[in-house]
This record gives sequence, C-alpha cells and structure tokens, in this order.
Amino acid sequence: MRIVVGVGGGIAAYKAAELVRALGQRGHDVQVVMTRAAQEFIQPLTFASLTGRKVITGLFSQNSSQDALASAVEHIAVAKENDLLVVAPATADLLAKFASGLADDFLSTLYLAFTGHVVLSPAMNTAMWEHPATQTNLETLRKRGCSIIDPEEGWLACGVTGAGRLPDPIRIADHVETLTRAKSDFSGEIVIVTAGPTQEALDPVRYISNRSSGKMGYAIAAAAARRGAHVILVSGPVQLPAPPRVQLISVKTALEMRNAVFHHLEEATIIIKSAAVADYYVANIPEQKRKKTATRLSLELDPTPDILAELGDKKGDRLLIGFAAETENLMEEARRKMHAKKCDMLVANLVNAHGLGFESDRNEVEILSRSGQTVHAGPADKNEIAERILDEVAMLRLNLRAVDATA
Ligand SMILES: Cc1cc2nc3c(=O)[nH]c(=O)nc-3n(C[C@H](O)[C@H](O)[C@H](O)COP(=O)(O)O)c2cc1C
Repeated sequence: MRIVVGVGGGIAAYKAAELVRALGQRGHDVQVVMTRAAQEFIQPLTFASLTGRKVITGLFSQNSSQDALASAVEHIAVAKENDLLVVAPATADLLAKFASGLADDFLSTLYLAFTGHVVLSPAMNTAMWEHPATQTNLETLRKRGCSIIDPEEGWLACGVTGAGRLPDPIRIADHVETLTRAKSDFSGEIVIVTAGPTQEALDPVRYISNRSSGKMGYAIAAAAARRGAHVILVSGPVQLPAPPRVQLISVKTALEMRNAVFHHLEEATIIIKSAAVADYYVANIPEQKRKKTATRLSLELDPTPDILAELGDKKGDRLLIGFAAETENLMEEARRKMHAKKCDMLVANLVNAHGLGFESDRNEVEILSRSGQTVHAGPADKNEIAERILDEVAMLRLNLRAVDATA
C-alpha cells in the first residue's frame, strides 16, 4: 500500500523513523512529509535513507521554475497517489490546523486534499493533551472519520508522568496494518448498518427518544466502506456527518427504520443493527400540541415493530449482527437476545460504564457468536472497536463458507 507518513514538530519525531522503517519492512511504499518544526528535531536525511525517496519538506520548491511548477501541484499528486495518510507525531498544532482547515504548509494542505483514510497518532505534554482546545479538535477529527491512536500514559520528555506519550512505533504500524490488510475484505458485500436513536412523536412538537449518539454505528459504516463494502446506513436523527462513500438513509421513527431496512433487505448480504430503536410508540398522536394542565398525564404506548426479530426470521443466508445495550446482567441478556432473535453475532455493551458507550467516543464490548465464542474489545476508540467487530464478522463469514464447502 502507498502510505504518506507526516511527521510533526514534537519531541517524539525521532520515533517516526522507527515507524517508517517498520512500514517499509512490511512491504509498504512510504513517502515522508516533514513540517518545518519536525526538521528541528530530526533530519530529512534519516527518512530519505530509510525510504530511498526524497522527503517533502515544504509547499514551494526552492529550485528551478520547472520544479516550482511541479511542486505547485505536488500536494494534489501526493494526495491522489497514496491510499493512507499517517501523522506521527500529530502535534497539538497539527490537530488544530487539520480541525480548522488551515492549509499553510505541505502537510496541512495535503490533509485537505487527501480523500483516503487518515490515521493520527497524537503526542504531547499531558496538559496540552487534556486542554479543551485539543480535545475539541480531536472530537472534530474523529467525527470526520480520522482514526485516532490514543497516546499512552508514562514518563514524558518534559519531566512529568501522564497521558501524551507516542505509542511504540510497532503498535502504530500494527494499527496501520489492520487498516491496510483489511482494505478490501468486504468488497462485494452489501452491508446495511442501522445507527442512532429513533424518535417517537407524542404530539406534533414532542417526542420520546434515547441517548444513543449513533457514533458506534457510523464508525462501523465508515469502516465497512473503507474495507470495500457498499454500505447502506439507515440512521435515526443524529448530529454526525455522513461517512465518505456511504449511502445514507435518514429516518425518524422505528417504523420508518423498519421499512427502510426491509426495502433494501433483498440486496443486502450483511446486516449490522446497532441502532437504539425505541421499544414503544404512541399510536394515536393528537393533531394538536398537548396542552399543559395541572393534572397527571398518562400516555398509552404500543410496542414498536421488533426489527431484529423480524430480520432473524427473514434474513435467509445473510449474516445478522445485533447489538445489546444493557445496564445489568450483560452476558446473560446478550446470549438470550442472540438466540431469541436468531442473530449470527451479537455485540454487547454495558451502557452505564463510566465514560463509555452512549454519547462517548469510546466503547468496551463483548462480541458473542453463535459458536459460543466470546471476544472482548476495548476500552478503545469507537473506530478501533468498529474494526474489531468487522474482523470478527469477516472471520465468521470465512468459517461459515468453510462449513458450506465441506457440506
Ligand atoms: C523541545 C520542544 C518539544 C516539543 N514537543 C512537542 C510535542 O511533543 N507535542 C506537541 O504537540 N508540540 C510540541 N512542541 C511544540 C511544537 O513544536 C510547536 O507547537 C510547533 O509549532 C508544532 O509544529 P508542527 O505543526 O509542524 O507540528 C515542542 C516544542 C519544543 C521546543
């Protein structure tokens, strides 16, 4: 795979040399881009020697007018020619530039021109890492689909111990490997992913809903598309942009979600149902807004369609992956649900775990399959959890095909 490694101006820039070497050893074609600040920490010659290629150190050529013409479009050419952009160390400054769309050097301009997947490995002093400005920038970049490799805790060069250390370059290379190895293992698949909450109207202005942010489902949709699938994302109301190369169908109610899923069921090969669908709705919605009174208001609620159960009955040989968000008895409830709804796999998470699950960028899950196997994933960024879930789906599909072949 063709990979651009962007090196920022942080103390950990020296570790980028190890990363570049590891990626080269794994057979990747690596182009290094260094910022001006990065060159204060490590010489371009180190990377040129490791890659056998000229290192890009600036937006404008210092040489002849011919070179100037070539370099005038070099950021676009580099963006087009490469499949993956890995930035390590991603400094606080680079995160801010990427998040705000600033393009005042080669790396930030390349980031804007780049349409492939972006992996960011931030490293900085703990206070800089924890600063709301940095965390807001990370949140923005995550929402745009960048993979963030969280820094590790440990001793930092500034003399303090805390979060902010660049992970071992081999770990970063492993993460890149997961992304690249998997790049096309879902090609030919048509994957329906459901995500987010549903909203069930109480009257023309009010509704009942739940705290699902849709982040887990959107991360799965983005990852499946990256891995070559055609993805149909059926989403309840969320505050997230559509992931690249995904067919988005926006719905509001459980019934709309059910109809959208079944409309596309024939073409689908895999269904991943991560949405938090309302269990009840108000059948008789008044035409006018309910007036406030001093007396108690009782609502009569009817059950919504059980989309997962209906899919279990009608899925044929499609793979069906359900989700169970529980606040207690997680494994017991997850196993019961997997069998009752005829799922091939079920992803279970405790939604009241501190800082994880609903509304969070991170998650910790148990992935159960009908074979009885359980795989634990996390706590980790939802993009990383999405990759782990898809790894398990790919494995399950492989096992089922092997069983079919021997039958
Ligand atoms: C000795 C030294 C070490 C630094 N280490 C880091 C670091 O680890 N992470 C970081 O975000 N900034 C660090 N900085 C600050 C950056 O170098 C500075 O914000 C710079 O503008 C980043 O440039 P870039 O956008 O090219 O990465 C350090 C600065 C100095 C002088």
